[in-house]
Amino acid sequence: MHAHEFRPLADTEFRPARDLFMRALNLPPVTDEMWQSVSRTSEPGRVFGGFLDGELAGTALTGTSALAVPGGAEVPAGAVTGVGVRADRTRRGVLTGLMRAQFDDARERGEPVTMLHASEAVIYERFGYGVATRSRTVSLDRFRAALRPDAPRGGRIDLLEPEAARTVLPDVYRGLGLVRPGSIVRGDAWWDMNLAVAPRDAVAVVHYDPAGVPDGFLRYEPKSRDHRFDDGTVTLQVRDLVAGDAIAAAELWRFLFERDLTDRIVAVDRPLDEPVEWLMVDRRACRTTAVGDDLWVRLVDVAAALRARTFNAAEPVLVEVHDRFLPDNEGTYRIGPEEVERTEQRPQLSMDVSALAALYLGDVSVSALAAAGRVQVHEPAALPGADHLFTTDVVPWCGTPF
Ligand SMILES: CC(C)(COP(=O)(O)OP(=O)(O)OC[C@H]1O[C@@H](n2cnc3c(N)ncnc32)[C@H](O)[C@@H]1OP(=O)(O)O)[C@@H](O)C(=O)NCCC(=O)NCCS
Repeated sequence: MHAHEFRPLADTEFRPARDLFMRALNLPPVTDEMWQSVSRTSEPGRVFGGFLDGELAGTALTGTSALAVPGGAEVPAGAVTGVGVRADRTRRGVLTGLMRAQFDDARERGEPVTMLHASEAVIYERFGYGVATRSRTVSLDRFRAALRPDAPRGGRIDLLEPEAARTVLPDVYRGLGLVRPGSIVRGDAWWDMNLAVAPRDAVAVVHYDPAGVPDGFLRYEPKSRDHRFDDGTVTLQVRDLVAGDAIAAAELWRFLFERDLTDRIVAVDRPLDEPVEWLMVDRRACRTTAVGDDLWVRLVDVAAALRARTFNAAEPVLVEVHDRFLPDNEGTYRIGPEEVERTEQRPQLSMDVSALAALYLGDVSVSALAAAGRVQVHEPAALPGADHLFTTDVVPWCGTPF
């Protein structure tokens, strides 16, 4: 039997913890240069260590962020990342203890939700996480990728000098506000890390509206470059494309389509309902090559999380929530546009807290989860109303890797 201990790490332990995480992902330890930018993601008090018999066996860290929810509120949210357990110490409950430490910490800080991107889809549901947003990868044949004449037009695009990206892009992102449910606040440490690890040939451009106000930006980098200028193929890999409106979005795509020396454009982590095909003369030049789970959300405080979002006008629905990992969330909630309250009434629906997390941002309907056996329906007449309550106008999307 091992003695387990879980605690926030001291600053001096951050780098060994990072190296442990890198090894858990089968990656080499960080270099001194990488550590310069990566270290800022380690917030004092929020890097957790799991010890077995006094020896560091696993780690997880939380970044302070916020999540946009339906209705537009930004909910304080802990961004969980850097999760790893030593390969020779797995399946001994280290992750379980780290998860508990993170939830306790999030509650103490008044964060009703935590969120993460998962390396594997089978790890986090047992801790109450559910898939709250999905995203797609699109691949475009540049030679066929002309925009339709009626595609929105306007404003101008400027290339950013590489050293200007770090100062300009965070301001543009902040100025746009969180563009959809599922979008998250990017702190300084996020920008430090993500711009520092970008390759030296990465390109950033900003779109300005006719009044000169920045309302969108794009980051990409060339892949598979062939310097012989003959039959090589060059793919532009789009890392980040955020637009405040339809004109900025269309112009940023147009910019990509018009790049010389480019055969293919591959954009990862795009919203499922982004209308790229609808902008194009030849819609088959745009292929969706992957759709996957994106942001996983955990409602750490179910009542507070539900109260933070809005619900459509409909009769309240009575939902029983099961939560084995945080049992004080268990109970029946009356969920409606005017109120979210605990109740002693008999539930119309029952679900695990991970299913509620999947519903939270509007990515999936209650009916779909019921059809999959993830929601138990005690009163079928309540189902259409529940669908209407939770549904949202836009498909939620995160768009920020962390
Ligand atoms: C994923 C990882 C952190 C799990 O850590 P761990 O300490 O082994 O997890 P625990 O011992 O607390 O496991 C708790 C439960 O989850 C299950 N579980 C954990 N990881 C799992 C996985 N990858 N696949 C399937 N089940 C898993 C365990 O079997 C255990 O189940 P049980 O309670 O029924 O016995 C660890 O395997 C790891 O570091 N993997 C490589 C890095 C990685 O993927 N990190 C996550 C980045 S998002």
